[in-house]
Amino acid sequence: DDSLRARAADVGRPFDVGTALAENPLLTDSRYRALAGSQFSMLTPENAFKPQFLHPRPGVYDFGDADLVVRFARANGMKVHAHTLVWHEALPNWMRENDGPQEVRRTMLQHITMVAGHFKGKVAEWDVVNEPMSDDEKSYTNGDLGLRSDQSPWFEAMGEEYIDEAFRAAHRADPKARLFLNEYGIEEEGERWDALYDLVKRLKKRGVPIDGVGFQNHEYTAGDRTDPETFRSHVQDLAELGVQARVSEMDVPIREDEEDGRQTQADEMAGKLRVCLEEPNCTSFSTWGFTDRYGSTADTKIYPPRMADSLPWDAALRPKPAYERLLEAF
Ligand code: XIL
Repeated sequence: DDSLRARAADVGRPFDVGTALAENPLLTDSRYRALAGSQFSMLTPENAFKPQFLHPRPGVYDFGDADLVVRFARANGMKVHAHTLVWHEALPNWMRENDGPQEVRRTMLQHITMVAGHFKGKVAEWDVVNEPMSDDEKSYTNGDLGLRSDQSPWFEAMGEEYIDEAFRAAHRADPKARLFLNEYGIEEEGERWDALYDLVKRLKKRGVPIDGVGFQNHEYTAGDRTDPETFRSHVQDLAELGVQARVSEMDVPIREDEEDGRQTQADEMAGKLRVCLEEPNCTSFSTWGFTDRYGSTADTKIYPPRMADSLPWDAALRPKPAYERLLEAF
């Protein structure tokens, strides 16, 4: 039968089509499970691999939910894109309370070694560092090279080095896993992309084992459309550095006043998928969830709630035009 994953298997090179998988419906909703397992060849655990859940207290690890996700993937012949080892969010409180840089460094390295070690051979890829770029425009010109310093205990303790060390530790713990740096707001031209590109260039020059960059492609702000051709040129810039790319977390909320919103949504998603298929170093296309049924970006303090209409299947699990257009894009 026809499915996104059947089409992906036919493109003539390794290519995965993925979704973020929400842990709660995985347990409670059999139709959700069936659709996830039959349509996608790769999954990203939406929350279960975040330090807050995996590493609640110093030296105490809880792999329960994460192992469940891994078993689901294996049972359905899917790859796991694990997310995420090092981020400034989703940290347990104890990781923010510390006795100085040496301890922070030790904590980060121990976390990576334990967690990537636990999943060695069971996950195909890791987001090693998530969202390292700053949201503060001044940081692009003040000597911070655009890196996030605010709220990041990792940058605060180690500066840019934390990124090198994180990738090296992940590579030691699971040498076969492909290692990604994942970021949002880098689809467009501008200082943010330039700074990210320069960072990747420096990492490569220093021999850091980074395999790829994830472009989140959230369009959280409804109407926040981005040009697939700009994305293409960024993917090509990375190819020149010997670095892969992926669309890692796409969603496209529809503006309330938008006519033909669902067509626009379909165009946005299919446009990015097509570019990804056409660029040989673009290895996968993933949406952040697949159904409007679960408003799982519901942490309204940080994220706008997931908008009612932003993914390829509606709340009744019926396919929307975006699904048809994604199929056609292959
Ligand atoms: C979000 C989840 O979707 C929410 O359920 C959670 O409350 C907060 O995190 N970029 C990322 C993801 O890399 O980890 C975020 O996921 C969405 C933005």
